[in-house]
Amino acid sequence: MRLFDPERKAPKLDVVPRHIALVMDGNGRWANQRGLTRTEGHKAGEIALLEVVAGAIEAGVENLTAYAFSTENWKRSPEEVRFLMGYNKEVLRKRRDLLMEWNVRIRWAGRMPRLWPSVVKELQEAERITAKNTGLTLTMAVNYGGRQELVDAVNKLATKVALGQLKPGSITEKTIAKELYVPELPDVDLFLRSSGELRSSNFLMWQSSYAEYFFSPTLWPDFNREELWRAIAEFGGRQRRFGAAEDAPLN
Ligand code: IPE
Ligand code: IPE
Ligand code: MG
Repeated sequence: MRLFDPERKAPKLDVVPRHIALVMDGNGRWANQRGLTRTEGHKAGEIALLEVVAGAIEAGVENLTAYAFSTENWKRSPEEVRFLMGYNKEVLRKRRDLLMEWNVRIRWAGRMPRLWPSVVKELQEAERITAKNTGLTLTMAVNYGGRQELVDAVNKLATKVALGQLKPGSITEKTIAKELYVPELPDVDLFLRSSGELRSSNFLMWQSSYAEYFFSPTLWPDFNREELWRAIAEFGGRQRRFGAAEDAPLN
């Protein structure tokens, strides 16, 4: 897998989002359309993730957070859950050297309970090995849920209050943000979802409060870096107001 390909060079992008949230959706439909099993669809999705990581690096994106397994995905069949657990582990191990070469720093966002200990171990190992890398931060959201993340943050704050480390009534947005799974992550600028579904599915709800949304009809295994660049180009044309108001100049 080549990172830099002169035939596939990033176009000139005026504005580059600092943090992209990525919902990699549509593996099952992609497989079903081809008479394959859902697991074959998940396997085919791996290359799309590497494509997007390469494209994000080329575009100069600093943070990419990829939704790999949600806290709601436990509702799937035991076979699919088992496959996804094993596969997440395998991909992390198999691609660690390549991501290292690309200077990518890996982080994990998610909760420990229920997640296979071997997956937690692999995620933590990837975090440790890539900790000094200075390029793109790739956060893998595994056993992640936006509401769960807030519940976990609130519980941590409640413990601090009970221990007298935090005064009741002193909690601010900053205090909450510090208790999120990866507190260093900036707010999401661009929220990208493949497969034509128009929803956020409990992904990065706190961080995406002012994100720009981009929904692509492409099923995840067919997604590539060019499509990422199109999304970034469209993002560059959006006017972000953050609640403020601006009049067009009067003639
Ligand atoms: C996304 O693809 C991957 C995961 C949720 C792990 P899906 O498996 O949701 O694919 P569709 O939505 O059924 O097509
Ligand atoms: C979101 O996709 C989760 C991941 C991509 C990991 P889902 O396919 O699980 O979301 P819903 O169920 O369609 O909302
Ligand atoms: Mg889906």
